[in-house]
Amino acid sequence: MSTTKGQSSLFRRKAIKEGPSNLKRVLGPLDLTTLGVGAIIGTGIFVLTGVAAAKYAGPGLVLSFLLAGIICAFAALCYSEFASSVPASGSAYTYSYTTFGELIAWILGWDLILEYGFASAAVASGWSGYFQSLLSGIGIQLPHALTGAFNPDKGTYVDITAVLITLIIATLLTRGVKEATRANGIMVGIKLLVVLIFIGVGVFYVKPDNWHPFLPFGFGGVTAGAATVFFAYIGFDAVSTAAEEVKEPQRNLPIGIIASLAICTVLYIVVSLILTGIVPYNLLNVSDPVAFALEFVNMNGIAWIISLGAITGITTVLLVMMYGQTRLLYSMSRDGLLSPTFSKVSGKSGTPAAGTWISAVVIAFFAGLIPLDHLAELTNIGTLFAFTVVSIGVIVLRRSQPDLQRGFRVPLVPLIPILSAVGCVYLMFQLKALTWYTFLIWLVIGLAVYFSYGRRHSLLHPENVLKKY
Ligand code: ALA
Repeated sequence: MSTTKGQSSLFRRKAIKEGPSNLKRVLGPLDLTTLGVGAIIGTGIFVLTGVAAAKYAGPGLVLSFLLAGIICAFAALCYSEFASSVPASGSAYTYSYTTFGELIAWILGWDLILEYGFASAAVASGWSGYFQSLLSGIGIQLPHALTGAFNPDKGTYVDITAVLITLIIATLLTRGVKEATRANGIMVGIKLLVVLIFIGVGVFYVKPDNWHPFLPFGFGGVTAGAATVFFAYIGFDAVSTAAEEVKEPQRNLPIGIIASLAICTVLYIVVSLILTGIVPYNLLNVSDPVAFALEFVNMNGIAWIISLGAITGITTVLLVMMYGQTRLLYSMSRDGLLSPTFSKVSGKSGTPAAGTWISAVVIAFFAGLIPLDHLAELTNIGTLFAFTVVSIGVIVLRRSQPDLQRGFRVPLVPLIPILSAVGCVYLMFQLKALTWYTFLIWLVIGLAVYFSYGRRHSLLHPENVLKKY
């Protein structure tokens, strides 16, 4: 690792590594698209569509998906350029370390810890909704107190199945990643199949009357809905974390990122139209809206199959998110910015087991106690912030390193990165004040951790650089 001479310590940068990687380049465009779809389709479409339609957008939900999809497309183009010019594995954290220097990289890394942590908790909570619906389909009811987030008024204290699935996935991840990801392709296939079954069956039960009024909460409802369903698109960025294992990354990474996003956008638009066409929007605030819509038209058997497929599909997202979290903690710890516990690899399994368990316990805590819509909002604010930084990063990198080889170049720079950044900030402002406060407090804690620990322990700290030689 080296820094550029003459940088002030807060902005010391990691050099862009262009040497050969140790990992095998085996992944092609189809693998990457599968990886992307595996990370994207989950709690967002299967669960949050219901909340967003009932509380914010009504049948105009389709416009919310369109708006969030357009903003994500701009961000995906920026991600693609970043990923194809810094083909090292890792996430926006790694990219920003080479572009903006350590302080911003820290802020972004800290922000991504929040994103992946809350995304995992939200996805576990969505998983739980479908699991409980599946159980009740075969006549099993859990004690009411254990079926939802902490809310004594409603008589629920902990969402026990959300806690359990988090711990089960953590066990899988500590056993070895190969085992955990082997089934990914099959699970992605099942997930796509149930979405297509829903579309194929649901389309015959659409009553256009349910689309009136189309915008019961006005256009403000559409934008608030977009800020919620933005969650459904999160995950395409995960494709870029595989950069070191991709054949011709400069060409294939952008294909994988953009293709997976395009497929999901089309599916989401169709699903949201059909969902609000089958059920009056105000009835959709349930924990399993897609299955509920089919029960609503007495297709209970198919609803049960959809629940089973949704559970399978949401599991892949949880795997990717929790894996992303541990990998991020691992890279930040390896760079010296976080405690070495997070990069200690256990001999037997070759995985960062201690770090995985620490993050799993924290995720399980939030998944068990906090309602899904709050978790999703917190995930969204963190992700939108990361996308904003990446978009600005594209412009900065074009200026600071104009000759760097870029496999993919965003067209119309700086217009598209600016549209992406503005779109993301706009969606951030649609989120609740409480979400903003939590986010800002998290960032302040992060700065305290950096100045009291990370800055001195960083491998780029002059004393630590000297120690190496
Ligand atoms: N996009 C992912 C989901 O909807 C996070 O579950």
